[in-house]
Amino acid sequence: MTVHRLPPVVATLRPSNHPYLNGAWTPLHEEVDADDLTVIEGLIPRDIDGVYLRNTENQIHQPLGRFHPFDGDGMIHALSFQDGRVRYRNRFVRTRGFQAEQEAKGSLWGGLADPPALAKRPGFGAHGSLKDSSSTDIVIHAGQALSTFYQCGEGYRLDPMTLDTLGLERWVPIDGISAHPKVDEATGELMFFNYAKHAPYLHYGLVDADNRLVTLQPIDLAGPRLPHDMAFTENYAILNDLPMFWDAALLERDIHAVRLHEGLPSRFALIPRRGGVPRWFEAAPTYVLHWLNAYEDGDEVVLDGYFQETPMPPPLADAPPGFGHMMAYLDERSFRPKLHRWRFNLRDGTTREQRLDERIMEFGAINPRHAGRPYRYGYSTVAKPGWFLFTGWIKNDLISGESWTYDLAPGRYGSEAPFAPRLGATAEDDGYLVSFITDENTGRSECILLDAARIQDGPVCRIALPHKICSGTHACWGERDKLA
Ligand SMILES: [Fe+2]
Repeated sequence: MTVHRLPPVVATLRPSNHPYLNGAWTPLHEEVDADDLTVIEGLIPRDIDGVYLRNTENQIHQPLGRFHPFDGDGMIHALSFQDGRVRYRNRFVRTRGFQAEQEAKGSLWGGLADPPALAKRPGFGAHGSLKDSSSTDIVIHAGQALSTFYQCGEGYRLDPMTLDTLGLERWVPIDGISAHPKVDEATGELMFFNYAKHAPYLHYGLVDADNRLVTLQPIDLAGPRLPHDMAFTENYAILNDLPMFWDAALLERDIHAVRLHEGLPSRFALIPRRGGVPRWFEAAPTYVLHWLNAYEDGDEVVLDGYFQETPMPPPLADAPPGFGHMMAYLDERSFRPKLHRWRFNLRDGTTREQRLDERIMEFGAINPRHAGRPYRYGYSTVAKPGWFLFTGWIKNDLISGESWTYDLAPGRYGSEAPFAPRLGATAEDDGYLVSFITDENTGRSECILLDAARIQDGPVCRIALPHKICSGTHACWGERDKLA
């Protein structure tokens, strides 16, 4: 392996016993380019061509307050596959926050678990005064990568191969965009939403394949809400108004306390994709972090996602002192997300609901060519009890009801695993799931490929990475012909 290291960034973080600043969540500060990576097992397939992009959170400076794992600075990792060869590189997103803290040589903003007043400079996020660290998601749109922030923030454009930060996306509205814009590969369009503490509390927007803002419209809500993700079909964008959001009375005192509002249903807005009057549907109360897919089926719109059985979990019992509340909201065994289907009837306005799997799972992937269209297979991750760490995957056949699993060995933790279609594929599951692994037994990281048609067989290829990756949240696969 040939590794070229960049000059180090200014870092002031000191060692601590914080559970999310150690182990598989140890921040990485090094930026490298690496070639001739060592293949640990199998052969690098010649039948995929594209790049795996992974966004991770890496705290650089000593936190001003109580560190939350979503506070770290965004670092993008790219593993490019072509003709059976791979190249790796990683870079911090050069956000305005990153650069200001490099100049200041220390933290200028508090985090998600801190009061907004802790910030030394104006900030971002519906919570207020956060550093927009662009550390949550990454998508490919109009040939370039776009990285986004957990709440609402700016959009940073990056070259998907060099990972150079190209600058701020100019169509992003004043209230920012949420972490999960959605790209429809069939049309090249990107759909997004944002939310705020002031009216209008929600906006929906659409950007076309040429990166022109086509639609930006307010969506009426009774007050501030906390949506995280959206879905789409061929004709609709689907936004949500779920009954877990800030307590209005406390919010007037700038206290951001989330609670489940008894007696309120879950509400879903079906909005014509290029803008128009939303049509609302109601369903059982819950919170949903991520949707898997949506599609149209005759008079019905079908939405699949992860229904949380206990969106407001009690503090995690065996957490280190002081971390029980934060760790419960990072622990799937606490909030209990399960794969669930909502069917919205366009004729009579009713909603039918159905549980698709009783096991706890989240962070799903599908073949992106089926996004917004009928599909058969979902690939969800399984987490380590008590921890935001992925230990395996479940493949669900949503037509036959069959499922298959692959579990990593103890001490090995995966990342969100997008689907990479095989060159010339015709079958929906003809491709690979791509994941980084952080191995706490060896202190190293690698990339694995699972054959999506047979995930239960384990990796078809394992490739050593030049350094240990911090766990992080979201990832995507960019096919070569979609990169500028
Ligand atoms: Fe997310």
